[in-house]
This record gives sequence, C-alpha cells and structure tokens, in this order.
Amino acid sequence: MPETVTAPRTVLLSAYTTLKVGGPAELWEVEGPEDLVEATKEPYRVLGGGSNLLVADGGVPERVIRLGRSYNDVRAFGEGQLDVWLGAATPLPGLVRRAQRAGMSGLEGLLGVPAVLGGAVAMNAGTRFGEMSDTLREVEVFVDGGLERLPAADLGLGYRHAQLPAGAIVTRARLSLTPSTPEAVQRYMDQVDAARHGQPKIKSAGCAFKNPPGESAGRLIDLAGLKGTRVGDAMVAHEHGNFVLNLGAASSADVVALLDEVRAKLEARGTSLQLEWRLWGF
Ligand code: FAD
Ligand code: EPU
Repeated sequence: MPETVTAPRTVLLSAYTTLKVGGPAELWEVEGPEDLVEATKEPYRVLGGGSNLLVADGGVPERVIRLGRSYNDVRAFGEGQLDVWLGAATPLPGLVRRAQRAGMSGLEGLLGVPAVLGGAVAMNAGTRFGEMSDTLREVEVFVDGGLERLPAADLGLGYRHAQLPAGAIVTRARLSLTPSTPEAVQRYMDQVDAARHGQPKIKSAGCAFKNPPGESAGRLIDLAGLKGTRVGDAMVAHEHGNFVLNLGAASSADVVALLDEVRAKLEARGTSLQLEWRLWGF
C-alpha cells in the first residue's frame, strides 16, 4: 500500500492524554518515512500514549506527530521472538501480556504502564521491578530527515530518563527477551500488580513528580497532609500522594495550580520535587 499522509487535523489534546486536559493542536498521523519527512517540515512534538503529559488549555502551536497503525506490531509479537524489532506505536500493555503468554521474560516489570513503546523508550518507563532499559538494545529514530539506528547504550538511559538526539522520533525499538515460562513470568507479574494496588484507577498521568533519591514523593506528599487537596476538579489522590487526578472537569490551569501548591508545601518542608510529567504549551 502506498504511504499517504493522513490529512492533518485540529484536535483537542484532552482526547489524546490520559489526564484528559489540554487544548487544540494540529495532529499529524504518520505511517512511514515519507510521512515523517512531510510532517517534520515545521516545528513539531511527538505524542505517544499521552500518559505522561500535561498539556496547556491553550494547546500547542507545534505540529503534534503521532505514529499510526503501521507502527503497531502488537499482533505480530509472540512466541520465539526473543530478539525483536517492534514499531514505536505498539502498546506496552499488549506486549507485556503477549510476552507472558509466550513465556518470555524481561517486560513483566512494566505491567500497568499505559504507554506505547516509543513513549516508554523516551521516558525509560519502569517500576522498581524493571524498566525499559532492561530489554532495550537498539532504537531506530527519524532525525534530521532520515532514519538512523542507535544502540541503547548511547541513550543515557536512567531513572525516567533517556537522552535522545534533539528532535529524534523513535520509530522502532529492538528488544531482547529471555526464555522463561508463562507461569514464572505470571508469578513475577503478580508481585508487580500487588505493588500497584495502592494506585488510583481514575484519570491521571501516573506519578506527577520523580522520586527524590531513596524516597517516595508520594509518601512525602502524604506525610505533608496533602492528600485530597483540590483546585477545581484537580485533586491529589487519596490512594497515593503522587497521583494528581482529574475528577471530571479539571482544566490544565487547575492542575498546574495544584502542582504549584504541592511543590511549595514540600519546599517549605525542605524537599524540592522535580516533575516527572512532560509539560506542553507552557
Ligand atoms: P507520552 O506521554 O505521549 O510522551 C511522553 C514523552 O515521550 C514526551 O516528551 C513525548 O514527546 C515523548 N515521546 C513519546 N513518543 C515518542 C517517540 N516515538 N519518539 C520520541 N519521543 C517520544 N511511568 C512509569 O515509568 N512507571 C509507572 O509505573 C507508571 N505508571 C503509570 C500509571 C498510570 C495510571 C499512568 C496514567 C501513567 C503511568 N506512568 C508510569 C507514566 C507513563 O505511562 C510513562 O511515562 C510512559 O513512558 C509514557 O509513555 P507514552 O507513550 O504515554 O508517552
Ligand atoms: N506511600 C505512602 N503514602 C503514599 C504513597 C506511598 O506512605 O501516598 C509509601 C508506600 O506505603 C510505600 C512507599 O511509600 O511504603 C513507596 O510507595 P509505592 O510502592 O507506591 O512506590 P512509589 O515510589 O511511590 C514508584 C513509582 C511508580 C511505580 C511504583 C511501583 C515514581 C515517581 N513512582 O512509586 O511509577 O508504579 O513505584 O514500582 O518513581 C510513575 O512513574 O508514573 C509511576 C506511577
């Protein structure tokens, strides 16, 4: 099938983020390198699963590029694919589930991270049970108008951090898994799942702040008595202090005001919190 640029359209980014806030932007859905060449002719941002983003109510002036279906390889992934290239729009939850069924180990620590592969690489998503860098060997990126391959060792992967070249769009990632059994992988996943039981289920973007070394930001916010603090419909979750929720009609401005309040209160107690979320349009 020939590559065609799906006509860009103006959308509300609230529909593309898990926190469900954010204003308008021009969305470019791309299905291959030719589309990427076209889409990157003007300033742009890259959208993954939108699960770590706080987008301003006014939206963003840049083009928002999202990798389309041709970059989603979840259906092709399974048994025997221990060393595998996968498209960056492949949803992580599907990969985790399929790897477990096929008895392949390496991704199970990422259970519950609602990312797509490109976003998980860009953030080096993880939990204390494992992170993206455990299995990531190489990435294909679209940068400066062409595709390049980079070894994972060159990406400066750390806690919720990857150093991609400026403007690079991760298009594929090579993962290396190890042989195991569905039962063993499931047993580990049960532990990961148990550690998530204290996390809220409603609209959020995961933890808002990075953990200070050796601490849980959620615990510190809890100790400061800030659970349940509200600005409009934005609220610090009762279940976990580092989750900021959208109770329904929160604006991005509400969320920012709440984050500022939390940060100021923690600052007064001697802790500087660093945002984990990526801010767009501020
Ligand atoms: P987005 O949120 O869309 O983007 C995040 C950043 O990555 C942006 O800067 C974006 O420009 C960049 N990006 C996205 N795709 C690409 C690409 N193809 N190329 C280059 N850059 C790209 N995170 C954890 O690490 N651990 C957790 O346990 C965890 N739990 C969560 C639980 C919930 C309920 C929610 C909502 C979120 C949670 N998160 C967690 C946060 C989030 O899932 C991760 O940060 C994830 O890596 C974001 O991926 P995404 O695809 O949604 O990226
Ligand atoms: N705790 C409290 N009160 C709270 C929250 C936590 O007392 O409100 C205590 C817990 O009881 C526990 C300790 O703090 O003793 C640690 O809590 P938890 O296990 O929830 O881990 P965390 O450090 O708060 C991190 C990640 C999560 C990840 C979990 C599980 C960060 C910022 N957060 O949370 O990642 O899912 O561990 O591995 O690194 C994310 O990054 O978006 C995210 C959700």
